[in-house]
Amino acid sequence: MELKGLILSGGKGTRLRPLTYTRAKQLIPIAGKPNLFYALEDLLEAGIRDIGVVLSPETGDEVRAALGDGSRWGVRLTYIVQEAPLGIAHAVKTAQGFLSDSPFVLYLGDNLLSGGIKHLVEEYRQTRPEAIVLLTPVEDPRAFGVVVLDGAGKVVRLLEKPKDPPSNLALVGVYLFSPAIHSIINRLKPSGRGEYEITEAIQGLVDEGKRVVAHQVRGWWKDTGKPEDLLDANRLALSSLTRRVEGELADSQVVGEVVVEPGARIVRSTVRGPAYVGAGAHIEDSFVGPYTAIGKDAKVIASEVEYSILMDEAQVYRLPYRLDSSVLGQGVVVDGQGNARRHTLQLVLGDRSRVRL
Ligand code: DAU
Repeated sequence: MELKGLILSGGKGTRLRPLTYTRAKQLIPIAGKPNLFYALEDLLEAGIRDIGVVLSPETGDEVRAALGDGSRWGVRLTYIVQEAPLGIAHAVKTAQGFLSDSPFVLYLGDNLLSGGIKHLVEEYRQTRPEAIVLLTPVEDPRAFGVVVLDGAGKVVRLLEKPKDPPSNLALVGVYLFSPAIHSIINRLKPSGRGEYEITEAIQGLVDEGKRVVAHQVRGWWKDTGKPEDLLDANRLALSSLTRRVEGELADSQVVGEVVVEPGARIVRSTVRGPAYVGAGAHIEDSFVGPYTAIGKDAKVIASEVEYSILMDEAQVYRLPYRLDSSVLGQGVVVDGQGNARRHTLQLVLGDRSRVRL
């Protein structure tokens, strides 16, 4: 039976407010592309073309608008609305009609992997375990699902966001399952935090003696749960860009791995890579520093921007500070009104915020 994909794009996104008051967190652009697109492209690269997308009632429409019917990627998309964010296992349960008795890859829409999942899907196809999970050591495991392995590397115990973590191995948000997971999910009770936990469902497989394989993640992995994670994910994704300059340059320097999309204009400015400049963006008399992504039709005028994300149509003018480690939502306007340059400015502004300095 061929594998299906299930991308979760529901949930609340409370830790990314104010950005998520107006948009799904999975649509926040990382190196110029919504987080969700990376998940879809990983599935596609692994040969998975039948993909379900779990939506919340609040942000479902914009996710649908962003992905369309999937024909852009040559995949078939099925949208599934989860009425309330009752947990990852609940999202899978909501999708049971779509998944039917196919094995599947569950991909959390706010996760980003540099190594893709092709090798895991191939391993699944060849060895048919009940589950494959991905792990990585993290500094603060309390924010994640945590896994305990025995001396032979076998999964013994899984805990969701434990206060006192028994290991530093976090569960990455990509899982491969056989349909055996469904009967366990159907028996789950809500956890202490009121969610149906996928971690507990996997524990159920382990307890039944089923084969649960754990691998360390290849390359880097990021869960874009908080603004600083977004910036770090942006940095990592920009680091793998290859230079492509299609926009127009006038009296400007574009140094290193920089993508300048068609229709962008860079005038009397320096853009130092890795950086991304979206279609129709306009940069003038400015410095755009490393690890910065400038959205479609955004403007940077007489300003310095470094290690930041400016979403589509965001505008910064005559900033007296260098904008650093900032995330500006769609259509945000920050106008420094040309005061003398001093220090740096660090902002996380939701869509259409306006700041005059
Ligand atoms: O990122 C890895 C971590 O993801 C794992 O280590 C944890 O074990 C796992 O529970 C999960 O933790 P998070 O706290 O990061 O999960 P979050 O609530 O952010 O949800 C992850 C994605 O799934 C996100 O894109 C929203 C979506 N989601 C979440 C819930 C709870 C849904 O679509 N429906 C839901 O009910």
